[in-house]
Parts: sequence; C-alpha cells; structure tokens
Amino acid sequence: MSGFDKDWLALREPVDQRSRDAGLLEHAVTAVGKDGHILDIGCGTGSTYRTLADRLSPAAAWTLFDYDARLLAEAKRRHPDAGIAFLQGDLNDIASLPLEGTAIVTASALFDLCSPAFIDRFVGRIREQNVGLYAALNYDGEMRWSVVHPLDEAVTEVFNDHQRTDKGFGTSAGPEAWQVLAERLEAEGFAVSTATSPWIMGAEDADLQRMFLSGVAQAVREAARLSEDALTDWCEFRVASIEATYSSCRVGHQDVLALP
Ligand SMILES: C[S@@+](CC[C@H](N)C(=O)[O-])C[C@H]1O[C@@H](n2cnc3c(N)ncnc32)[C@H](O)[C@@H]1O
Repeated sequence: MSGFDKDWLALREPVDQRSRDAGLLEHAVTAVGKDGHILDIGCGTGSTYRTLADRLSPAAAWTLFDYDARLLAEAKRRHPDAGIAFLQGDLNDIASLPLEGTAIVTASALFDLCSPAFIDRFVGRIREQNVGLYAALNYDGEMRWSVVHPLDEAVTEVFNDHQRTDKGFGTSAGPEAWQVLAERLEAEGFAVSTATSPWIMGAEDADLQRMFLSGVAQAVREAARLSEDALTDWCEFRVASIEATYSSCRVGHQDVLALP
C-alpha cells in the first residue's frame, strides 16, 4: 500500500490533464508509433492511460505497474476490457521491470518522490534497453497564490524540505528531481526535452485546492518549524480565499521527455 488515496488521484486527474505540456505529450504519442508497447510506472488508477489511450492507435499495448494493490484494483475495475496488463511490483526492484519490447515508459507525478540514486539506476536500466521516457507532472517547488499571505514563502520552504525526505526510494530529490532526471538522461545520450506544466487552480477547482492545502498543512505541521497558531491562521486564510473568483493558486510542475 502506498498511501495515495484514489479520491485524491481522481480530484487531480482533470487538472493534471489540462496542465500537461501539449507539445511534449504529442511527441510522446508519436514516439510510441503504431503498435508500440507502453509501460506506465506508478500508474495509480490509470490516469496516464486515460490521458494517452485515445491519442494512440488501438493496437498500442499497455502495462500498468504499481505496488499498491488497491489502486491497481481500481484501475482494473475502470478498464476491465481494454487488454491492459496489470502488474504489481516495487519499482525499487528495477531489474524486474518488464522493459523488453517496450517503446516508452510513462510516469506521472512520480519522479518527485524519487532519490538521485534511484534515478541513476532507473536511467541506467532504460539506457540498457534503449527505451524512452515520458515523465509528466513532476512538482518543481513552486507554490504561488494570487492573493498573498505573509507566511506563503515560509510554508513553501518547509513543504519543499518535507518533499526532500524519504518517500520510499531513499532521500528524495523532491522539487529538484525533474532536473536530476533530465541531467542524468542527457548524460546517457538521450534527446531530452522539458516543459512546464503548472496547475493553475481557480474557484472551480475548490475541492482540489482544499485537499491540496490540507496535504501541505499536514506536511508543514509534521516538520514543526512554524508555530501552530501561525499555521492555523495561514490555513484559514487560504481556505477562505479559495472561493473568491479573483483568487488562483499556481503549483509548478515539469514534464520530461527523453528519447533514445
Ligand atoms: C502521486 S501517485 C501518481 C499516480 C498516477 N501516476 C497519477 O498520475 O494519478 C504515485 C504513484 O506511485 C506509486 N508508487 C510509489 N512508490 C512506488 C514503488 N516503490 N513501486 C511502485 N509504485 C510506487 C504509488 O502507489 C502511486 O500510485
């Protein structure tokens, strides 16, 4: 079990979809070719599949890989007849990733959990097999609100430090992970493109904003670097301003495409 909640993944999916860089997405689709095989790692309930499948030929074959049995079961429940292979496994066991015959590995909201050491091993493995990578929506450390609060910067700093703790792959590269990934891929001779894919959330994304804020507050509280009163004040201010039509929240992400 990973602790990623399917309701959280469902809330973010439409915002993820509209935030992806369209150019990189189209390049990734082209790289799959007519009947390529795609391995989606850290698939959750299948968000990347739902985003890409309609753009690909029906002959494209998918393997969805995750270690969370509940999320995989949900993916299976949603796509019982799509000819998808569902595979439960731990990405840390990189040698067992089924890369043979794979045209491209896809991932979304995954690499910001990963350590530089894991990224090294992963890039080494896809280089061995000459497989491309389309890794979308890696959090890059930016959180900005159109309606500012004096504690925004401090909260962002503490949250970003929390993102640099161990998320199951050794000490995470957190907001810098996308850069580490792009550098390692380039060093291995891949043709690498990156593009920003920020979430821009307005009042229509109120539920996602609320859940996002609650996750941020929980991480910041755990770090215990800001006073509880100050954090409570910040949370109340942020929640109150969500509904204001003029208010928006920008959360930075980066997409990375690497072709062999
Ligand atoms: C933030 S979620 C993203 C899910 C999905 N890609 C999406 O965009 O909705 C990260 C996913 O990575 C999976 N994951 C985390 N660590 C993993 C590991 N060591 N092995 C396999 N999957 C892992 C989690 O179970 C979760 O589904």
